[in-house]
Amino acid sequence: MGGEPIVIAAIGAVASNGMLGLAGWLPWDIPEELAYFEATVAGAALLVGRLTYESMAQVPEDCFVLSRRGELTLRPGSHRVDSVEQGLAAALATGKPVFVIGGASVYAAAWPYCQRFYLTRIDMPFAGDTVFPESIPLADWRVLSEERKLLVERQSGCPVGCRFVVYEQQAPRHPGQGVCILPAA
Ligand SMILES: NC(=O)c1ccc[n+]([C@@H]2O[C@H](COP(=O)([O-])OP(=O)(O)OC[C@H]3O[C@@H](n4cnc5c(N)ncnc54)[C@H](OP(=O)(O)O)[C@@H]3O)[C@@H](O)[C@H]2O)c1
Repeated sequence: MGGEPIVIAAIGAVASNGMLGLAGWLPWDIPEELAYFEATVAGAALLVGRLTYESMAQVPEDCFVLSRRGELTLRPGSHRVDSVEQGLAAALATGKPVFVIGGASVYAAAWPYCQRFYLTRIDMPFAGDTVFPESIPLADWRVLSEERKLLVERQSGCPVGCRFVVYEQQAPRHPGQGVCILPAA
C-alpha cells in the first residue's frame, strides 16, 4: 500500500579545503568528475540556484531555478521558483527523480529535504570564493557507498584523488512539511 517513497537527492563536489566554487564556476577542471555528475542527474528534474544556472552551458528539461527576481529570463524547459519548498514540490510533480545541484546557498537551504547526498570529495585544496556549507551535518548521515579514483585535473595536469561518496539521511523532511499556507484574504 502507499506510493513509492519520494527520493530527493543532492549532488556536488568539494575540495579538501571546503571550496566548491570560483568566479561563478568550478575551481577545478576534472572531466571524469563532471561526467559522473552528468550521468547521475541524467533524466532528473533539477533544483538549482540562479547563479549556478547562469553558469551552465546546457540545461535539461524540468530545471527549477531558485530566484527572487520576478523578471528573470530563462531557457525553454526552465521554470523560476522562489522557495526551496515550491521548487522541490514542482520538481517532484514531474514524476522524475529530483536532484538539488547547488550552489552553496541552495545546498544550505535544501539539505533537510534530501534523502541522499552524492558528494565527490576532492583530496586537494583549491582556491575558491564559495564554500560548501558547514551547516550540513553529513557526519551524522550514513555512508551508503564510497569509491576512490585517481583522476587528472586538466588545468594543472596533476593527478588528484577523488572519493565518490553517497550519504543517506535517515529521516529527511518532506517539502510539504512546515509550509504555512495562508488563508485567502
Ligand atoms: N562544486 C560543485 O559541486 C558546485 C555545484 C553547484 C555550483 N557550484 C558553484 O557554486 C557557485 C555558486 O553558488 P552560490 O551559492 O554563490 O549561488 P547559487 O546558489 O547558484 O545561486 C544563488 C542565487 O539563487 C537564488 N536563491 C538561492 N537561495 C534561494 C532561496 N531560498 N529562495 C529564492 N532564491 C534563492 C538567489 O537568486 P536571485 O539573486 O536571482 O534572487 C541567489 O542569488 C558557483 O561558483 C558555481 O560554479 C559548485
